[in-house]
Amino acid sequence: MSPTGGPAVDATGFRRLMARWATGVSVVTAHGPQGDAGLTVNALLSVSLRPPSVLVSLSNDADTLPVIEQSGHFGVSFLAAAQQPVSERFAATLGAEEKFRGVARHPGPNGSPLLDGGLGALECRVVDRTPAFDHVLVLGEVVHLEAGADGLPLVFFRSGYSAAEGTDRLRLPPRQP
Ligand SMILES: Cc1cc2nc3c(=O)[nH]c(=O)nc-3n(C[C@H](O)[C@H](O)[C@H](O)COP(=O)(O)O)c2cc1C
Repeated sequence: MSPTGGPAVDATGFRRLMARWATGVSVVTAHGPQGDAGLTVNALLSVSLRPPSVLVSLSNDADTLPVIEQSGHFGVSFLAAAQQPVSERFAATLGAEEKFRGVARHPGPNGSPLLDGGLGALECRVVDRTPAFDHVLVLGEVVHLEAGADGLPLVFFRSGYSAAEGTDRLRLPPRQP
């Protein structure tokens, strides 16, 4: 049985299937009294355009989570293909100071560190926080946006890093009059 009483789905099978779901990679950050904090995140969803908002799913164990909650704001930096070492650094079990050592960044208008050299970055105001099993879903309204280089993204696929070379444009069926 699952924690909610439904039939149990094997966690290994679930993880294997989700590994086929390709995502981009971001670093979610916040600034607190102790300084900057951040972690690598691929559980990120663009929620609405009016207002622009995003949702991130953060582990209850993430040291960055309380910093975001205290700050009331968080930054999202979208990583470029060349930033795999940045992703590795922010996913490692390191102190916050160690994670940011030598990483070029600048503060957003509300103090969240935004990493340089990526595809772009957002700063969000926390508008909701929903517990979700061993994670917390943090909904943020985008209050600041910076477009970086329009290059190739870092992609996470099959539990590893991958390249996205695709340049084909989205084709939709013509609209009916
Ligand atoms: C590609 C990738 C994506 C990740 N996505 C998430 C995520 O969406 N949410 C999360 O809580 N952790 C995610 N992690 C794990 C965290 O980055 C990792 O646990 C980190 O060390 C937590 O840092 P902190 O405790 O300093 O906040 C991801 C790791 C990798 C490598």
